[in-house]
Amino acid sequence: LSGITISEILSALSAALDVVEGQPEGHAVRTSLIASRIGAMMGLDGEWTTRLHYAALLKDAGCSNNSARVQKIFGGDEHLSKQAVKYVDWSSPTESLKFAMSNTERGNGIGAKLRRIVSNIAPPGQIMDEVTSARCSRGAEIALMLGFDLQTSHAIYALDEHWDGRGSPQHLRGEQIPLLARILCLAQTMEIFVSAFGVTATMTMVEERTGKWFDPEAALAALALESDAELWSNHAELLEQGACFISLVDSGAATDADIDEICMAFAMIVDAKSSFTGEHSTRVTGYALDLARFFGFDAERRTTLRRAALLHDIGKLGVPNSILDKPGKLTVDEFDRVKLHPLHTETILGRVRGFERINEIAAAHHERLDGRGYHRGVGASELDLDMRILAAADVFDALCAERPYRGAMPVEKAISIMREDAGAHLDADCVEALAEIHGAGRALRAA
Ligand SMILES: [Fe+2]
Ligand SMILES: [Fe+2]
Repeated sequence: LSGITISEILSALSAALDVVEGQPEGHAVRTSLIASRIGAMMGLDGEWTTRLHYAALLKDAGCSNNSARVQKIFGGDEHLSKQAVKYVDWSSPTESLKFAMSNTERGNGIGAKLRRIVSNIAPPGQIMDEVTSARCSRGAEIALMLGFDLQTSHAIYALDEHWDGRGSPQHLRGEQIPLLARILCLAQTMEIFVSAFGVTATMTMVEERTGKWFDPEAALAALALESDAELWSNHAELLEQGACFISLVDSGAATDADIDEICMAFAMIVDAKSSFTGEHSTRVTGYALDLARFFGFDAERRTTLRRAALLHDIGKLGVPNSILDKPGKLTVDEFDRVKLHPLHTETILGRVRGFERINEIAAAHHERLDGRGYHRGVGASELDLDMRILAAADVFDALCAERPYRGAMPVEKAISIMREDAGAHLDADCVEALAEIHGAGRALRAA
């Protein structure tokens, strides 16, 4: 794929994780920029600098893993709560309380807010351990899965630990915390502050939290960066353009296997976000590949379809769990937000060089033949077989999968529902092919 590097793909896809954490897109990439400068000041060599770069890009790979939990604790839109968690010094009780008051049930009335705080009896420390552990351990696992080494993975696992032992989740202190994690903790907090409040305020924050959150030596290196005009103008430029890639390490071209692994990892990240979706992306991929074989696709076309299927719902990372996991009926506004997810998918995948065809297929998964689908509302003439296959596989899984409010639907029933508006919604040949593949064709004909 046009010589795209691993670093380039991960940078582009990491922007989807920034959104889950309530950060402006490009946060991971900008964190990597700041981290690399701190690392350079501290004399890190090339190998460690590379580890630091990938750890920064993947630092929030576990973010979706605690979304449901954060939403349950704070209510409202968890993307906003997650954002605020990073500004606040949790070791200070007054700041924690202020946070709880302003973030619990964000966007809702004071009554709901108080009820939530009262019912929320666990102290912030325990809450933080729980949500951080879910996030960091998953992020560290994903780094290993992608073939990065233990040092990179450990850096991700420990990135919310604080120098004074009051961080999360293991309460490591001082040099027990891996050096890369100490640099990352500092760099990610600095990035958030620089983007929101500017360089001077950031340096004040670093000074205040030295020896508390931050390793004094790393903090000293960071403070020396205040006058680094080039760094901050680079940062400002990246922020302004919403850029999701900078060339910090030379990682070489990604192999086909690398790209597949990255697609699988992001499918897992998407599936982890909501208990409703379970292993939806991987199952949809299985159904889509069955259909591709049925229609005689060659290996290359199957590869493209597989990647599109794995990533089709990556845009759901931009939809808060307060909507995705809502037990009741969605309001019109909420449904409008859900309907934007294929557009988010298109935006995210649009940043990956060489993913143009993958993106076309993925972004069309909620389109209908009669043109009443979303997000573009295009009709049959613009929906090719690959897109129709993915759309059918997606609906098939949505119907067959077990839901909290109902058991798994038998294949026959799912197929008969899909047949009802085949031709208007889904492609009839795809529906019949699914019936054939799952042995439901004959049974249904006999009935
Ligand atoms: Fe979808
Ligand atoms: Fe889907």
